[in-house]
Amino acid sequence: MKLHHVGIATDDLNAARQRYRLLGYRLEAEEVLPSQGVRAAMLVSGDDRLELLEPTGPETPVGRFLAKRGPGLHHLAFLSSNVAADLERLANEGARLVDEQPRPGFGGHLVAFVHPSWSGGVLVELVEAER
Ligand code: CO
Repeated sequence: MKLHHVGIATDDLNAARQRYRLLGYRLEAEEVLPSQGVRAAMLVSGDDRLELLEPTGPETPVGRFLAKRGPGLHHLAFLSSNVAADLERLANEGARLVDEQPRPGFGGHLVAFVHPSWSGGVLVELVEAER
């Protein structure tokens, strides 16, 4: 499965955007996802994407992540042509899932997260998108 984006937790999305701009990444889209308590910016350079995540408050998944581990790598997102099928396949192999069912994520794409205990410490996201 191809990598779709790398998710990075930050407590200052605007400052982070400016830094990655120096590396050639431009803003593709920015959204607030109230259900996840996060403000997200997708940056793009060629085929590569970075997703910057700033929590909308401390009692959110990314807010708790920042409090515990500080800013930095949050997740790897892999491109899937069928998130529901891939989720079922991984669950059948014993993967611990964060999401039992795909749900709408950034850009309206169907996404689902797999627990970091499965991958050896990295939160894994599956994204159903064209590329
Ligand atoms: Co993501």
